[in-house]
Amino acid sequence: MNVISKEEIQKIRNSINIVDLISGYIPLQKRGKNYFGVCPFHDDNNPSMSVSEEKQIYTCFSCGATGNAFNFLMDYEHIGFKEALKIAADKAGINIDIQTNIKKDEDDPTYKIYELSNKLFKNNLNTKLGSQAKEYLKNRKISDEAIKEFEVGLSLSKKDELTNLLLKKNFLEKDILKSGLVNKNEKGMYDVFYERIMFPLWDLSGNVIAYSGRDYKGKYDNKYVNTKETEHFKKGEILYNYHRCKNHARVNKKVIVMEGFMDVIKAYDSSVKNVVATMGTAFTDKHANLLKRLANEVLLCFDSDDAGIKATISAADVLLKHNITPKVIEINDGLDPDDYIDKYGKEAFVELVEKPTTLIDFKLKHYKKDIDLKTNDGLSKYVNLAIEAIKKIEDDVYKEVSINKLAEESGLDKKFLKSKLDESKKELVAKKTEPKNVDRKSLSKYEKAEMNLLHYMLNDVSVVQTYLKRISCLPSKRFRDLAKHIVVFYKKNNYVNEADLITEIDDENIIKTIGFLNNLDLNDECSQEELDDYINVIEEYSLNYSINVLNSRLKEVKTSSEKAKIVQEILELKKRRDISD
Ligand code: UTP
Ligand code: MN
Repeated sequence: MNVISKEEIQKIRNSINIVDLISGYIPLQKRGKNYFGVCPFHDDNNPSMSVSEEKQIYTCFSCGATGNAFNFLMDYEHIGFKEALKIAADKAGINIDIQTNIKKDEDDPTYKIYELSNKLFKNNLNTKLGSQAKEYLKNRKISDEAIKEFEVGLSLSKKDELTNLLLKKNFLEKDILKSGLVNKNEKGMYDVFYERIMFPLWDLSGNVIAYSGRDYKGKYDNKYVNTKETEHFKKGEILYNYHRCKNHARVNKKVIVMEGFMDVIKAYDSSVKNVVATMGTAFTDKHANLLKRLANEVLLCFDSDDAGIKATISAADVLLKHNITPKVIEINDGLDPDDYIDKYGKEAFVELVEKPTTLIDFKLKHYKKDIDLKTNDGLSKYVNLAIEAIKKIEDDVYKEVSINKLAEESGLDKKFLKSKLDESKKELVAKKTEPKNVDRKSLSKYEKAEMNLLHYMLNDVSVVQTYLKRISCLPSKRFRDLAKHIVVFYKKNNYVNEADLITEIDDENIIKTIGFLNNLDLNDECSQEELDDYINVIEEYSLNYSINVLNSRLKEVKTSSEKAKIVQEILELKKRRDISD
């Protein structure tokens, strides 16, 4: 894998002008210092995206989308960082060797072992010994085209076929064992997979990196056996069928996520090709990031048993954290997509895919199923869950509709329900990133001071130095996280610059905080007096915090000497606080 240095990355970013880049995709108009255009990252009617030539970043004051040239390319084209870097380098006329489709390392024997085993398994299926397996696949209505496309194969009943082949081909024992396809005990090496239909699993570029083997004789306890996790194969970091799905998802502007690879194969056979699977593992942040590269719209199509419903809700919560609100394709009757296609046919499945349920409707329906709304206890539990779910709705109109429905359903006053929503608004401002309509009056003096301070830290090295000398930690998590990134960047580079800083931040919410600060419309420069003000306010917060901690410790300690010591500490902190007031 080729590594590109930070300097090269910065050079590429410096060689393109973000205004030229973005205006190649959307029309921009100059207004004052900045350029404005219709934001491509949400349903925008007014030009909400501003592009700063000076800072080389864009930010949307409606949806909060923020970033530098690379982020724009990644989000607009649904590509990864390296691909974006390559496009930017090409545009800047910089010749640089960037391998975007990270092809396997030709020298790594593991890949050769997978290639060879894949050939062996595929061949086995077409021999006489493969007839029962073929019959099984036929009964499961998996077409010959699908068998070919998904490279389905077979491991035979003897437990040393692959081991012997690999040894005969002179692979080293250590490499054979590392592949995860062969194990070793006191009697020697033996195949991990025998008497199973073999489904290869690929990495993001389409190299085979593992297998899942299905018991087709109903002989074993485990329905599937998987290759153990290796350096190349980590279930939480890949999605089954990702490399094939890429283009289908981009054309459809949608990607469907399933739990099992069998479901994906059957969907593909029904000509629904923009599908991937998590393979029965918990849905991870990495999965969310991969899906983002595929399409803006994510549809969850999990099994419809209780476990599948729970998995749908937790996957949706991970996606919400990444600012994606998925929809749900509901299978019902406890079936999985594969069963559904068998039972109702391909056309019915295609129709179902066209009629997804919104996440909120899905959640409410399933909360209701498990709770007895006739009891006070049940009803309040349901209303609390529903409020949590409604809180996460992005669209204001939809939010209003959902609150109305909940009021009707629960018999509770709409005003009361709305006030419950508002109760958590502050917490939401801190956690999520809704730069629009941030009412500065509703923010505490601490939050205001933090925001102002950070705004200047982003553009002025001396403010970062003052911060390090006098505070070094901010009260609100969201701001604290950004401050940490600024400090790390400053210590490494001795300068600060928003566009370069953004290149080094993976967390979208932190990048959005930068956009939010840019939307605040503050002065370009800040006087020493202002700066002192902000710092004093934040110091006061830290002192109060320490005083509170000590006060609760005071209640816990037993001896009077310990008590006296803490009281003394509290008095000192109070003195410091009152002086700086
Ligand atoms: P499912 O149990 O839903 O499998 O597990 P499925 O797709 O319906 O398979 P069939 O139709 O019975 O053949 C979903 C995923 O969880 C993983 C597999 O990756 C599977 O695709 N799994 C399941 C295992 O790894 N081991 C198991 O024993 C079961
Ligand atoms: Mn199934």
